[in-house]
Amino acid sequence: MTIDDKFVAIVPAAGSGARLGAPLPKQYVELARQPMIYHCLRAFAQVDRIDQTYVLLHPDDSIWETLDRTCFAGRVTALRCGGETRADTVRGGLAMLGRSVDADHWVLVHDAARPLIAAAAINTLIDALARDAVGGLLALPVADTVKREQDGRVVQTVARDHLWLAQTPQMFHYGLLREALARAAEHSITDEAQAVEAMGLKPRLVHGDARNFKITYPQDLALAESLLGGHPLDKEIL
Ligand code: CTP
Ligand code: MG
Repeated sequence: MTIDDKFVAIVPAAGSGARLGAPLPKQYVELARQPMIYHCLRAFAQVDRIDQTYVLLHPDDSIWETLDRTCFAGRVTALRCGGETRADTVRGGLAMLGRSVDADHWVLVHDAARPLIAAAAINTLIDALARDAVGGLLALPVADTVKREQDGRVVQTVARDHLWLAQTPQMFHYGLLREALARAAEHSITDEAQAVEAMGLKPRLVHGDARNFKITYPQDLALAESLLGGHPLDKEIL
């Protein structure tokens, strides 16, 4: 890392959380007595090298403004750029950032639905990538045996060598990320790295932590709650 490196974070939070099925959007569901999104925003706000964290909201979001955001001490800014898909939301956020960042700013993209990211893991990612020509992401090597399914039955055991599970944050230069996402606009992509890969580049994998999982289904909430020191794990739920 050079003294000139600049970092911003963007946190897409414009989804509805259909698979969680809660009465309010997933990012606002209460987790350890706080809206879920607070947990990751606090981690980013603790990383001094990150100048600003931008939370990407749905244009009709009526909840964010009602929350007490004083704990972020001015280090979190909302942008109303939510789109149809996560990639659309990120694309919109990068476009809105336009004037405040340069092509060589590093952008860390992190799901609002990964509340257990730690400031230390964000620093590990930055330290591992700040001299990298491409950028990369936190990820975990696949540990379980992997099966391919058809009609509820195993049709193949897939070799797990060299397979990793992608997490966030994913960190790329602003200019590269904008170009990659613009080129990928016609394709359905589920993370930033996929758009960068489509340009023939090879994002670096940085070993993450299993605790940084994404809250997707109701049972994930109980696990996160227990890791955050709230309710003990309910064996009936899991
Ligand atoms: N996201 C977003 N804009 C969208 C869709 C998703 O900003 N149009 C964000 C979500 O808010 C979440 C992250 O992308 O923080 C990861 O997406 P996911 O876990 O799929 O969340 P949801 O799309 O809200 O959930 P679901 O797919 O179950 O509806
Ligand atoms: Mg989704």
